[in-house]
Amino acid sequence: MTEKKCFPEGFLWGGAVAANQCEGAEGRGLCVSDMAPHGVRGPYDEVQEPGKYYPHTVAVDCYHHYKEDIALMAEMGFNCFRLSIAWSRIFPHGDEAQPSEEGLQFYDDIFNEMQKYGIQPIVTLSHYETPLYLVDHYGGWRNRKTIDFYLNYCKAVFERYHDRVKYWLSFNEMNNVLDFYFVAGGIRIDEGENKAQAMYQASHHMFVATARSIALLRSIDPSCKYGCMVNSSTLYPATCNPVDVFGAYRGRRRKYFFMDVQVNGRYPRYIQRTWRENDVHLETRPEDFEVMAANTVDFISFSYYRSNTYEDGKQTGSDTGGFISDPNPYLERTAFGWQIDPMGLRYVCNEITDLFHKPLLIAENGMGTYDEVNPDGSIDDDYRIDYLKRHLQAVYEAIQDGCEIMGYTYWGPLDIVSAGTAQMSKRYGFVYVDRDDEGHGTLKRSKKKSFDYYKNVIATNGASLFEEV
Ligand code: BG6
Repeated sequence: MTEKKCFPEGFLWGGAVAANQCEGAEGRGLCVSDMAPHGVRGPYDEVQEPGKYYPHTVAVDCYHHYKEDIALMAEMGFNCFRLSIAWSRIFPHGDEAQPSEEGLQFYDDIFNEMQKYGIQPIVTLSHYETPLYLVDHYGGWRNRKTIDFYLNYCKAVFERYHDRVKYWLSFNEMNNVLDFYFVAGGIRIDEGENKAQAMYQASHHMFVATARSIALLRSIDPSCKYGCMVNSSTLYPATCNPVDVFGAYRGRRRKYFFMDVQVNGRYPRYIQRTWRENDVHLETRPEDFEVMAANTVDFISFSYYRSNTYEDGKQTGSDTGGFISDPNPYLERTAFGWQIDPMGLRYVCNEITDLFHKPLLIAENGMGTYDEVNPDGSIDDDYRIDYLKRHLQAVYEAIQDGCEIMGYTYWGPLDIVSAGTAQMSKRYGFVYVDRDDEGHGTLKRSKKKSFDYYKNVIATNGASLFEEV
């Protein structure tokens, strides 16, 4: 008899969202993501212009709909749910001495609601959510003072929620500081300024802040676990030309650098060359290195959406999924040009395991594309089912390969605003939300075909992924 394939017992099944992409800004201060005008990827505005639409400020109003939304996640059988706390809901400017009781109460209500259904929260402390005030008045993460503001925020939320929140993540996709320094690093860069200097200095402050917040969490509740979060959509060489092979390797290392520091508690030697070549001179204090060495993460979480190829001199840009170059002829792409590569996820799980030997959480993976609503209101998103199925099968294979994978949180289980393009029409959800790119719609939630598919995957602990239908 052949053994039935399924996932390990206790596997964390769920989904992931970020406060700024789903809640709306009611009751909180502005954060960096609120400065994205709607539509295609564009530069972030310095101030919000009257009459212009900023989708993150309204999002899909989870602020008022959270009970309904959590009930839908529970119906799918989620035993975990990754969400972020909006820092500017707890400290609207970021530099206040005392937290907002109203803000704290909001997440109390959310965590209590999740507890009712046995859903374990996985909380990202800062998912592209640096309070805008800190950027405007202090220079954001380029300023060392931001470390203390952040720790004040961490203290408030750790003390309040540690009994219900056992998994904490530091900065979402911290490596994106190098590509999207405003949202990921909360910094602005002046014209003519040495970009690399500003980005690595901000990163240094974020590393120190992470290490100090790990120490703080452990002093408050040693039963909690702390993870880093790095975008790990991967990069292959486009050819076997050694220049491309080494270029792709360096491209991946540029991401893994951010894991390396948080897992090993020190800067790897190779970064010295990058700093030298880019005239980077970090301002550090001796105690930074002590605190970093003493406080490293318990597990690694990462996002994976796609793979890209590297060909020397051919990079055309990067977006929230990573580096962009010519299409890989072996792979299909979504309507947004993201290459669909389940094997890439298995590759990444294995590579990260080999490098760092830590438990992994697949904190984001999903298919963002246009959905068509049928006249009867139903949505047949078979393409999303296929994406999910093949990626989860790859996760299963990675587990068989020996990777220790704690869980999988599908990105955007309900439609939310896209981080990269501030669009609603780039949808990831199993639950459709009636809101369009201009902010019109009833906000009604309805289930897509993929809803029942994922529900069944969870109910069978993955076994249904291998059944013929
Ligand atoms: C990740 C981010 O980069 O990718 C999310 O952590 C984001 O915030 C997700 O939404 C998908 O990217 P996008 O641009 O399609 O929303």
